[in-house]
Amino acid sequence: MSSGIEPSSSREEANLFAFQVWSYKQGEMVSLLIHLGDRLGLYRVMSGAGPLTAEGIAARAGLDARWVLEWVRGQAAAGLVRWDDDDDRFELTDAAAAVLADEQSSLLFAAGAFGPPAAPDFVDDLAESFRSGVGMPYDRQGPAGVHRTERMLGPWTRLALVPRILPALDGVVAKLEQGGVVADVGCGAGVAVVAMAKRFPRSRVHGYDISRHAIERAHQLVADAGLDNVTLHNSGACDLPDEPTFDFVLTLDCLHDMTRPAQSIGAIRRSIAPDGTWLIKDIRCAPVPKDNLANPMAAMMYGFSVASCLSSALSEPDGAGLGTLGLHPELLGRMCADAGFSRFDLHDIDEPANLYYEVRP
Ligand SMILES: C[S@@+](CC[C@H](N)C(=O)[O-])C[C@H]1O[C@@H](n2cnc3c(N)ncnc32)[C@H](O)[C@@H]1O
Repeated sequence: MSSGIEPSSSREEANLFAFQVWSYKQGEMVSLLIHLGDRLGLYRVMSGAGPLTAEGIAARAGLDARWVLEWVRGQAAAGLVRWDDDDDRFELTDAAAAVLADEQSSLLFAAGAFGPPAAPDFVDDLAESFRSGVGMPYDRQGPAGVHRTERMLGPWTRLALVPRILPALDGVVAKLEQGGVVADVGCGAGVAVVAMAKRFPRSRVHGYDISRHAIERAHQLVADAGLDNVTLHNSGACDLPDEPTFDFVLTLDCLHDMTRPAQSIGAIRRSIAPDGTWLIKDIRCAPVPKDNLANPMAAMMYGFSVASCLSSALSEPDGAGLGTLGLHPELLGRMCADAGFSRFDLHDIDEPANLYYEVRP
């Protein structure tokens, strides 16, 4: 029976817990402000400009000064911009600009990952998935979902895939310079397809994705780049050619999203040339799920999983449902061996979120 008097230690614990929970609400509201700052060009006009008043920021961005003042005070409260002590000036440091403003040349660019809040009917469908067990493919997120993924993963693809990752793979660059056949399976908006096709004009690059919106966007990027060595397919990993065709296959951040990863790996095995190479980029995670808690971003990863990865991986009845943190190196190594691949090398390139695997028949 409760005495009605709460011991102060449990009151303190509850206060701390309440603070922790409200911090997530704060994160939600700050995320909205980051999205608006990105969308309205506020970070871009502040980048490299030194300390500015809210009026100065508003004038540069062509926006209303009172709204910008509230936004920039919020940014300072969140620790994202500097608020000068003496006068009401606000500064985006170079480090902050690399993360919030510089989409073209910074590997750390992150602002593109902050979309508007999820649409209510999408959340209704997500709640329904908890009841039915069946999730939703990426296409359910519409063209905006493709755009968000492109902006979240694109900077890495544009800046690291060709210069940093490919040279670490045995003989791939030399082969593709001479001319080879490449498949990017689960290519999304086609950022890697474009990067590969530009870098290796003598090679033909095929992009495969089950998402109609992704393939539409990829067609646009390929046309904008004026490339004639690309073929795009609105079809999945299991629809790859049934005979050795590709000198190089990529699956970037997508195997764990597939409903049938084992069958997909089998299809890749059949479609790859005997001396071909398969590059897998997948999420850094541990065989024992609890060990993932060492990742300070694990809660965000589980959020991505429910909203996108797990949902996609369960979007057909009896889907494998690996989810964002479900494809760890041991499991992947086993699945590749079962499909008949004989070489499986892990490349732990200095990147906190991902691991890379070089797989060969
Ligand atoms: C997180 S996105 C990654 C996109 C792209 N590789 C990148 O790095 O930006 C995952 C993509 O995998 C695609 N996908 C899921 N299951 C697939 C399957 N079975 N075959 C081909 N693509 C699939 C989704 O439609 C989505 O575009």
